Amino acid sequence: MSDIFPIVTIPAPSLRERSIEVDKKEITTPKFQAFLDKLTKTMGIADGVGIAAPQVGINKRIFIANIGHETRTFINPIFTKQSDSLVETEEGCLSVPGIFGMVNRPKKITIQFIDRHGRQAEMILKNFDAVVAQHETDHLDGILFIDKVTDFTRGQLPISS
Ligand code: CO
Repeated sequence: MSDIFPIVTIPAPSLRERSIEVDKKEITTPKFQAFLDKLTKTMGIADGVGIAAPQVGINKRIFIANIGHETRTFINPIFTKQSDSLVETEEGCLSVPGIFGMVNRPKKITIQFIDRHGRQAEMILKNFDAVVAQHETDHLDGILFIDKVTDFTRGQLPISS
């Protein structure tokens, strides 16, 4: 088994699927923990700030992200609060290589999720951390940042992405 996953890029249909919830009992198994380690390592090698499981061909509701100074695992994430005020950020995506653009998203969110130890957790995230969590959660619903871009800043959108 290779130590990192290949990254799935557009126009792969699997990037457009709704991913399924993770069974809580599965989280603490060695197989699942090894998957999380490999996904984390893949994000590091690819130099991403976040990566969602569908980006490596696994359509389950999991993402990894660097939040603050920590790399954290989010399983079955849901947003319980989203601010009306928005923040505009230039986004890119490992699955959409070479393309960047401006996206507006809620500036502050509350996210509930299960952590990598199988514990229920909640975080309040602001600004870039909130943007990353929303970008990654969108992947779990088959949504890509290019769907929300107001202005492309670099690269061109291929047809039928
Ligand atoms: Co992405």
